Amino acid sequence: MKRVIAFVTGGYSGEAVVSYKSAITMEAEVDKSIYDIYRIDITPDAWFHKTKDGKKIPVDKNDFSLLIDGKKITFEAVLIGIHGTPGEDGKLQGYFDLMNLPYTTCNAATSALTFNKRYTVAVAAFAGIRVSHSVHLFKQDNTEATALADRMKLPLFVKPNNGGSSIGMSKVNRREDLAPALQKAFREDDQVLVEEFISGREFTVGVFRNGKEIIILPITEVKTSKDFFDFEAKYSPGFTDEITPAALEESVAEKIRRTAKKIYQVFNCSGVVRIDMIYNEAQGEPYMLEINTVPGQTAASVVPQQVRAMGWTLKQFYSALIEVALSRTKKS
Ligand SMILES: Nc1ncnc2c1ncn2[C@@H]1O[C@H](COP(=O)(O)OP(=O)(O)O)[C@@H](O)[C@H]1O
Ligand SMILES: [Mg+2]
Repeated sequence: MKRVIAFVTGGYSGEAVVSYKSAITMEAEVDKSIYDIYRIDITPDAWFHKTKDGKKIPVDKNDFSLLIDGKKITFEAVLIGIHGTPGEDGKLQGYFDLMNLPYTTCNAATSALTFNKRYTVAVAAFAGIRVSHSVHLFKQDNTEATALADRMKLPLFVKPNNGGSSIGMSKVNRREDLAPALQKAFREDDQVLVEEFISGREFTVGVFRNGKEIIILPITEVKTSKDFFDFEAKYSPGFTDEITPAALEESVAEKIRRTAKKIYQVFNCSGVVRIDMIYNEAQGEPYMLEINTVPGQTAASVVPQQVRAMGWTLKQFYSALIEVALSRTKKS
């Protein structure tokens, strides 16, 4: 018997457009010979499944079920492909927990925690992982913290605390540029993070669980001709090279892998996450920037590149994620 799986896509934020691009790969590559997949779009207007003949079936939110031609469909697990809220910040995870439905991402607490960049670096630092010095500013009350930010070592990075895709972010090289950078970031979010700049080569690495084993995917180096990996560098062709696997000395690669695995364990992650890091040569240590708990899955995205570089097919990879979720099914 095929396992009945819901695949959720869409989302409520601007990142929904990226979710729909990831959905193309995920829907094409998931193994239909072992899974009966129902795509469900989660949009601000409705949660629905579209049948082959184009009928829009609304989800019954009481138990996350569908009624198709008089037959009730329930699911054994959920493959989550939503970037941004509510699929990456713990909200859907909390809902699925209430429905007793296992899913492929990190749990509700880890998703909510890692969606907040400041809380992420705070927990990581507590576990001995290197992170940048930073100050956390709140729109309604930020005089003292702004004074602190003003005394930090230049250059600085100013970022919306809960954003993604580098929107509203600035690199500040001169003191007088701090105030406009803060204004720009506060237009995106009520919380802003001011970090000291970490110099070094930038890497990003996917980590996932396969059965009981934690697998570190081949490391990718991000090389951009821009000042940093900003929105344009991320989404317009020609500004960035992503090299997978990165050309690295084995000792450095091993440090990055060890740090990535430790982060996965410290945050009690599940499913696949992608960790952004900068390797500081002077100290010979990797610094963690952030953890992405629903990393992009478009054909050109980093995680699919890394999966292929490891010699796996995407089909095997998505099956591994779904099987781990299915193994968490609560026996009542
Ligand atoms: N403290 C920092 N030092 C150096 N570069 C940084 C720092 N913070 C962010 N960056 C640069 O900005 C990019 C985006 O920052 P990141 O924290 O990963 O947010 P996003 O969610 O937008 O990807 C990074 O990929 C990196 O190039
Ligand atoms: Mg990032």
